[in-house]
Amino acid sequence: MAEDLVIAKGTKESQYQSLLPQVEALLEGEQDLIANLANMAAALKAQFNFFWVGFYLIKNNELVLGPFQGPVACTRIQMGKGVCGTAWKENRVLIIPDVDQFPGHIACSSYSKSEIVLPVRRQGGDVIGVLDIDSERLADFDEIDERYLIQLLALLP
Ligand code: SME
Repeated sequence: MAEDLVIAKGTKESQYQSLLPQVEALLEGEQDLIANLANMAAALKAQFNFFWVGFYLIKNNELVLGPFQGPVACTRIQMGKGVCGTAWKENRVLIIPDVDQFPGHIACSSYSKSEIVLPVRRQGGDVIGVLDIDSERLADFDEIDERYLIQLLALLP
């Protein structure tokens, strides 16, 4: 298991390309969901220094805060609420260039300006939660993030 992450420089694409095999190695042979989500959040934070990156997991029909890196965050999010609850309800990736323009956005921090939220499934199964990444910059996320983050999430056993 790789214990040190090599941090790549360069384009967003080349950074994800460097990160993917390293996360694959980190997760290899490990079945524990929380351990894998924790390492995934840490690896994304280390490579991109996102303001906040973490998981919310579905428990008793609400999203509950899971492994994350960044400032303290809201603990529970109801289905359909905020960007996370909407991505869960609609079962799709949401890229929000300006969170102030998203009706019902849950502002855990006023520093968060844009975000991407992806449903999380294990091996194509039912949705178990969401991956939420927040940036201090407007319009920080695009289809490149979406494509590579989907590949990262597909590594979950
Ligand atoms: N931005 C999220 C809330 C979670 S925090 O930002 C960590 C939302 O509106 O769903």
